[in-house]
Amino acid sequence: MSHIGSDISQAKTILSAGNTVAIPTETVYGLAANAFDVGAVAQIFSIKKRPTFDPLIVHTHSIDALHSFVREIPKAALQLAEAFWPGPLTLLLPKKSIIPDLVTSGLDRVAVRIPNHPLTLALLQSLDFPLAAPSANPFGYISPTTAKHVADQLGEEVEYILDGGAANIGVESTIVGWENGKATVMRVGGLSIEAIENVIGPVDILAVSSSNPAAPGMLKSHYAPRIPMRAGNITELIKKNSSKKIAVLSFQQAYPAVHINYVLSKTGDVNEAAQNLFSAMRELDTTDADIILTEFVPAIGLGLAINDRLKRACAE
Ligand code: TXA
Ligand code: MG
Repeated sequence: MSHIGSDISQAKTILSAGNTVAIPTETVYGLAANAFDVGAVAQIFSIKKRPTFDPLIVHTHSIDALHSFVREIPKAALQLAEAFWPGPLTLLLPKKSIIPDLVTSGLDRVAVRIPNHPLTLALLQSLDFPLAAPSANPFGYISPTTAKHVADQLGEEVEYILDGGAANIGVESTIVGWENGKATVMRVGGLSIEAIENVIGPVDILAVSSSNPAAPGMLKSHYAPRIPMRAGNITELIKKNSSKKIAVLSFQQAYPAVHINYVLSKTGDVNEAAQNLFSAMRELDTTDADIILTEFVPAIGLGLAINDRLKRACAE
């Protein structure tokens, strides 16, 4: 069993020995290892049962520290970095060879971010290497937003879980890359498109539905509970599924007549809904419901990221 605690020096010792530690961030918990150590990184893939075509995000503590493993930072990337780091933004930047190919699945760009969590920032500052860290869940399942979520599924495999409380954003970082020089959002996430466009102007958004491994991380079915999930008009879906034991995951409105109902935000706040989303999905997934019925939220701010995760959770 893994230990759960907030001891940065213990985390440092384990990571420096080439092993993995689960770390808190403001988005979701990550499963971290020394990004320069191919053996340590290989452990991440094996613990998560993650295919090696799906590359990892590298976490560091400052823009200065980036230069040891990134060749250059384009102007628009630097503008975003200065505006939003530490924060829920990941940038795709040309890598130096010190980053093993396993981290980037052979791509010449590495995904990087500075997470906004005091414990993890202090840990990163104490290390002389950056941390490769995907979300700390078995591949394809719902991302963890608490230390307990990590322990529930990976407790046997991870030696130490650094407990930094519940993630206060609740969905993964927004990933921005460059296609023919144009800023392109590769994954909608915890930083809104509106905020990004305020700094660098209009951006493209990669289509959500791709299941092409050549567009890593955009796999169609992901973040999925074990119980089948359907999204649409909840009242109609309840009628259609009346013979089943129904769990409802609704945005603002309550559905007291069903077996179990989780309301994401009684005040209709998309930020609160994002914070609660993965906990809610996990909680409903532990019930004896036959089906989870849900609905999309308003497509503003973090609503885009919520709807993206719901779509993928419903994909076959
Ligand atoms: O908020 C987050 O981003 C969290 C925390 C722990 O930082 N991490 C996270 O990692 O969500 P993960 O591995 O679950 O998702 C990272 C996504 C993957 O879908 C991956 O395909 C994409 O980032 N990615 C990583 N490196 C890439 C690269 N070089 N080029 C394109 N996509 C990349
Ligand atoms: Mg993930």
